[in-house]
Amino acid sequence: MPDLDLLPSDLPVVRTVADLRAQVRAWRAQGLTVGLTPTMGALHEGHLSLVRLARTRTDRVVASLFVNPTQFAPHEDFEAYPRDEAGDAALLASAGCHLLFAPGVEEMYPAGASTTVTVTGVTASMDGLARPSHFPGVATIVTKLLNQCAPDVAVFGEKDFQQLQVIRRLAADLDLPVEIMGAPIVRAADGLALSSRNAYLDTEQRAIAGRFNLILVEGLARLRRDVAVSDVEAWAVAELLTAGFDRVDYVEARTPADLGRLGPGPAQGPTRLLAAAHIGRTRLIDNMGD
Ligand code: PAF
Repeated sequence: MPDLDLLPSDLPVVRTVADLRAQVRAWRAQGLTVGLTPTMGALHEGHLSLVRLARTRTDRVVASLFVNPTQFAPHEDFEAYPRDEAGDAALLASAGCHLLFAPGVEEMYPAGASTTVTVTGVTASMDGLARPSHFPGVATIVTKLLNQCAPDVAVFGEKDFQQLQVIRRLAADLDLPVEIMGAPIVRAADGLALSSRNAYLDTEQRAIAGRFNLILVEGLARLRRDVAVSDVEAWAVAELLTAGFDRVDYVEARTPADLGRLGPGPAQGPTRLLAAAHIGRTRLIDNMGD
């Protein structure tokens, strides 16, 4: 049997791949199905919605908590990324999670680890260009988590829509026997997509951030009215800067399944509008559409 510790929230926690596998094996021996919700902690209602969705599809839900160093570039916020394992565990327990997998860096990247999973195509634009080392880091850690836990279903948020398509691609290409599910974005009352990074925003920045989704709503409405894609993208960039964002990495209308380019004329068929923009030192992403 696995070596299970109990956190103050009473949520069992395992910290090694061997213990995770032992627990999953024990569940499987009882005929139970298993779901996985990978996270980097600093949990909010968006993460908990992933756990709840996994619970609707599987008998036991594992949440992983690992701030993955390989998906942060050296100038990004790896060190500053908020960490509160006890608080996260309490939230996970309240959402009905059954097990927390919280490994250390040495467990996930033992000395000598030298394999990286690289997904092409869906990573060739947007965050793949703005953060070149990001998706190889995500694809590698998610492949490892899927192999370690071997869940029936793994749930990822649509807020990171490009990440979700990267994970769907790698699971299909590597024949991983898991269903990848996307979960709808959870938003604050003013529509701002919930994100662990919202905690970095001061009051004034938070007010600016609240304009992000409204600009995308209007951009999507323009696309639906057959305004040319290139005009909508340029309009949205200008609106974000006017609203107080300091820098816009991209606003792009793409086909949802393969993130192919749309336009420059009116968008034909299913369309997702995706954007990334900075307020001060905080980078926010959002998306909406089909
Ligand atoms: O979306 C995240 O929180 C992370 O990118 C993930 C999927 C947990 C991989 O580290």
